[in-house]
Amino acid sequence: MSALAPLLTSRWGNERAWTLDAYQRTGGYQALREALRMEPAEVLNTVKDSGLRGRGGAGFPTGVKWSFLPPPDGGPRYLVVNADESEPGTCKDIPLMMADPHSLIEGIIITSYAIGCHHAFIYLRGEVVHVYRRLLNAVTEARRAGLLGSSVMGSGYELELTVHAGAGAYICGEETALLDSLEGRRGQPRLKPPFPAVAGLYARPTVVNNVESIASVPWIIAGGADWWKSMGTEKSTGVGIYSLSGHVVRPGQYEAPLGITMRELLELAGGVRAGHRLKFWMPGGSSTPMFTPEHLDVPLDYDSVVAAGSMLGTRALQCFDETVCVVWAVSRWMDFYAHESCGKCTPCREGTFWLRSVLRRIEAGLGRPEDMQILQDIPNSIVGRAFCPLGDGAPSSLTSSLKFFYDEYVQHIQLGGCPFDHKASYLFEAVTA
Ligand SMILES: Cc1cc2nc3c(=O)[nH]c(=O)nc-3n(C[C@H](O)[C@H](O)[C@H](O)COP(=O)(O)O)c2cc1C
Ligand code: SF4
Repeated sequence: MSALAPLLTSRWGNERAWTLDAYQRTGGYQALREALRMEPAEVLNTVKDSGLRGRGGAGFPTGVKWSFLPPPDGGPRYLVVNADESEPGTCKDIPLMMADPHSLIEGIIITSYAIGCHHAFIYLRGEVVHVYRRLLNAVTEARRAGLLGSSVMGSGYELELTVHAGAGAYICGEETALLDSLEGRRGQPRLKPPFPAVAGLYARPTVVNNVESIASVPWIIAGGADWWKSMGTEKSTGVGIYSLSGHVVRPGQYEAPLGITMRELLELAGGVRAGHRLKFWMPGGSSTPMFTPEHLDVPLDYDSVVAAGSMLGTRALQCFDETVCVVWAVSRWMDFYAHESCGKCTPCREGTFWLRSVLRRIEAGLGRPEDMQILQDIPNSIVGRAFCPLGDGAPSSLTSSLKFFYDEYVQHIQLGGCPFDHKASYLFEAVTA
């Protein structure tokens, strides 16, 4: 396997890569021209045959999802691009939209054409105002060039594209909470079924896909399904963007065929910072169980990572060396989940609150021996009982850390504080337990 395979990232370093001019000079919008010569069903089948799996976390096959839309009934059907990117450690969609917004727009037009949609949306995390401006400019450029509007490239196919900035809630990345938020309501998950394919935005058939999934579509149309399948593994085809962060020499985005290992990625990133060694790492963001150095050779594809006990998630590879206290790191993540729990269901709302409280007291040196059992019991009351996957993912870092670093928690309780001397970064009065 060749280590790097820049496709989606290939234009990022080009002079003014975000402009329509620069994009078209490097082959941009040629795949759209090709797609418009095909029947919509042919475009859909090409993506289905490519084996592309959703890059937003769950890895659901993209073309299969599109094919779930009911037959056209004369009413609207929508494409909504999930650009919320809030999973801690994930940093791929935002740089993609900043550096190369037209690759996403081209993917949106092709996808909309394939599914019979005439109004598409990008739901963007509101804090990234610079990306919002860039997307708005790119949409204006595309509209002026006849790539959007009443007749895309003179084909007679009509498409509008709206960029919507959310208010910055992690739960609004969950597809149904996103749809509620886009409709102007408080962003909370909907009961499924019905799934968005049947009753999504404004109760109409809707496809929700991640930015990277949609930006992969022009490459698949241009190169063909077999070419895409020639990269990656049999069940995790193509390339993906891996975001490396934390204690590595060169953090950043590394685009490689799915199935590359963390050992290979670490080599590309210059290894762990000088004089230190890897202690633990997250394969798919903070909602996925942690890995240790013993997992460095696990192929980073959907199925191998599950077989090894975690999830590929968003390929947000956060690396921590031996100077980091695992209790401290997990406690910070639990702060995040307790804050971001939308409050709709009791197991997640109460469970994340109590986990945060117990972790904080252990961190502050006030842990009790029975806390070790409580830390194992509360996740059992959340996982499988929560209304949406935020709850299921919230205790992942904790339960996996107890598997690998149980003694570190016990040490905090026995010593009455942190052996790493990490200072609790909150006011102790917040501990109510
Ligand atoms: C709490 C939570 C946050 C999520 N955040 C995102 C996100 O920021 N971006 C994203 O694409 N998917 C996110 N997802 C997954 C979406 O619900 C959905 O599966 C995804 O957008 C589908 O796109 P894909 O099939 O192209 O991966 C999140 C899910 C949950 C439960
Ligand atoms: S699991 Fe958490 S985020 Fe999801 S609905 Fe329940 S309270 Fe809201």
